[in-house]
Amino acid sequence: MASYQALAAGRTGVPLLAPGHVWLAGAGPGDPGLLTLDAVAGLAQADVIVHDALVDKRVLAMAGAQARLEFAGKRGGKPSAAQSDISRRLIELARAGERVLRLKGGDPFIFGRGGEEAGALADAGVPFRVIPGVTAGLAALASAAIPATLRGVNRAIIFATGHGEEEAFDWAPLVRTGQPLVLYMAMHRLEAIRDALVQGGCAPDMPVAIIASATLPTERVLISTLGRVADDVREAAIEPPAIVVVGEIVNARDRLLQIVALAGMR
Ligand SMILES: C[S@@+](CC[C@H](N)C(=O)[O-])C[C@H]1O[C@@H](n2cnc3c(N)ncnc32)[C@H](O)[C@@H]1O
Repeated sequence: MASYQALAAGRTGVPLLAPGHVWLAGAGPGDPGLLTLDAVAGLAQADVIVHDALVDKRVLAMAGAQARLEFAGKRGGKPSAAQSDISRRLIELARAGERVLRLKGGDPFIFGRGGEEAGALADAGVPFRVIPGVTAGLAALASAAIPATLRGVNRAIIFATGHGEEEAFDWAPLVRTGQPLVLYMAMHRLEAIRDALVQGGCAPDMPVAIIASATLPTERVLISTLGRVADDVREAAIEPPAIVVVGEIVNARDRLLQIVALAGMR
């Protein structure tokens, strides 16, 4: 707790994780430097930390000595723990009087099923609090020197999931906005998504960036075009987790990297 208190010296009090309460917290994209102070407070106080696969082990290493770690997520292609089982476990732990930290990658309410877990806790009458995290869709762009918004280029940015079947989702209205797309969980369906975007009117030479393992020492960035990206990803053997950015904002990267290099920051 000491390091958290030092960091939080400017705050008016450390939020307390009470027995029987759940904090549904975001752990950010991986780099422990992107944790919020409240997430660190949760790590320090929790009796039990129920975490997803994408929570970095250096983040988990910040847990207090009293904390037990429980894994609840997808690992090595094996099926995920059922969402209802995870929610049930959170409720069970809270009712047993534990201080529970439910730690999810990125932000708990962005493509992380945090909404379902919060709903289940609310239905069960378990007191909970939601602690936002830095979502991968923002962190990956910043880490790769791609501005999420750029005056004169875009007025909006669209977060979408690539997970799911094409029939169930019409990409054309998103393409018609002319605004950049930031896609989560799209790596396994790059061809299908490319085809749907091109059919929806997106130019095959639209710039695309793939940012894999963003903010981690293993981060990789691939710059391509919509038409080529699936082949380029295969050739470069880029693995998930990754964010896919489709849009003109990707073109700003080169200039920004030159400036960063001039300042000796990379
Ligand atoms: C189940 S979603 C969870 C998203 C998370 N709640 C968030 O706000 O970032 C998992 C997807 O997030 C993206 N992701 C998470 N961490 C990432 C990272 N460090 N680098 C790139 N993409 C990441 C990938 O698209 C991955 O498939």
